[in-house]
Amino acid sequence: MTSEDPVRPVPGAAPGQSLHAAPSRHTAPSRHTAGAPTGRPTAPDPDRTPDPDRTSAPDRTSAPDPAPLPDALACRGLRYTFGETRAVDGVDLSVRPGEVFGLLGPNGAGKTTAIRCITTLLPVPTGMVRVFGHDAARERMAVRRLLGYVPQQLSADAGLTGRENVALFARVFDIPRRERAARVGQALEAVGLTDAANRLASTYSGGMIRRLELAQALVSAPRLLMLDEPTIGLDPIARTTVWEHINVVRAATGMTVLVTTHYMDEAEQYCDRVALMHRGRIRALGTPAELRSDLRARRAQAARTTTTTPSAPRTSASSDVEPTLEDVFRDVAGTGLDEQSGDFRDVRSTRRTATRVG
Ligand SMILES: Nc1ncnc2c1ncn2[C@@H]1O[C@H](COP(=O)(O)OP(=O)(O)O)[C@@H](O)[C@H]1O
Ligand SMILES: [Mg+2]
Repeated sequence: MTSEDPVRPVPGAAPGQSLHAAPSRHTAPSRHTAGAPTGRPTAPDPDRTPDPDRTSAPDRTSAPDPAPLPDALACRGLRYTFGETRAVDGVDLSVRPGEVFGLLGPNGAGKTTAIRCITTLLPVPTGMVRVFGHDAARERMAVRRLLGYVPQQLSADAGLTGRENVALFARVFDIPRRERAARVGQALEAVGLTDAANRLASTYSGGMIRRLELAQALVSAPRLLMLDEPTIGLDPIARTTVWEHINVVRAATGMTVLVTTHYMDEAEQYCDRVALMHRGRIRALGTPAELRSDLRARRAQAARTTTTTPSAPRTSASSDVEPTLEDVFRDVAGTGLDEQSGDFRDVRSTRRTATRVG
């Protein structure tokens, strides 16, 4: 038995398909279909870029414009403190329906706390959180019904089989009894675990465990899937496999994804837009390409300033070299990044369950 099964197509009635009969105008996940995500995703900004589907469709002239869809997620001024620690310190975010949004940051940045507020596992003491228009403070059950959540901590039970683990979530999410077996089977199929479904989770590899947790989150057909460090500690092949399964489901359902990760390469490859979070605040937000090009422009400006000031030393960051997303992070986070978190590349060890359960 191989530990990393190949990606399989989502079965005809994929988890969530019925919930997504009317995909949003932002839903364009074809870039991310399994196998080879090519190029860098650049989700259009509806506030700045005219949507060709909306402007060129001939029947639009007679039909009234539909009401704008609510954001999949909107946070305004979100704050959360643990005693003296301001874990989330005024976060504003908008995630559009259908996009893959990356929340990036070192350990302690506040990502998990923000996610817990969004999933209603923590209250929203200050600020506002809305999921598809539903207020997380006042409509908790409505929000929970829209969400799938793969927490940073292990959520699968090593003493149950893969199928039993997913079935447990199907019951928790109140999926009607007559549909349960089929929905569980579809969720397992969607993450490539059909063959291993009747084995104990304790026998799974780290990548399989992560995919099992993905199936647990998918069985309720979420419209917004929240993944907290979904690939931490996994080897590169297992990481790719997890992403491929996520993207196959996205392509079939139009599901929105909010993911936290330390891996800048993953954010570059799979996220339409990213927010760089540090010490409870969002320090930069945009597509990976936008953020890199902003930094390139700032470096070029700095280089022009230093050449017109002969006594000033040349900056170490050359304006000719293409910056990476990690360079952007260092630039916006300043020196505090190293001081607080050690080497950014090394902060990958919070999830100790990644290699094996049990
Ligand atoms: N249950 C808790 N009690 C006290 N402090 C916490 C708790 N959870 C998180 N924190 C603190 O809140 C800050 C943000 O943590 P967290 O949201 O886990 O960040 P991240 O997920 O980005 O690593 C950190 O300083 C962390 O120590
Ligand atoms: Mg975390």
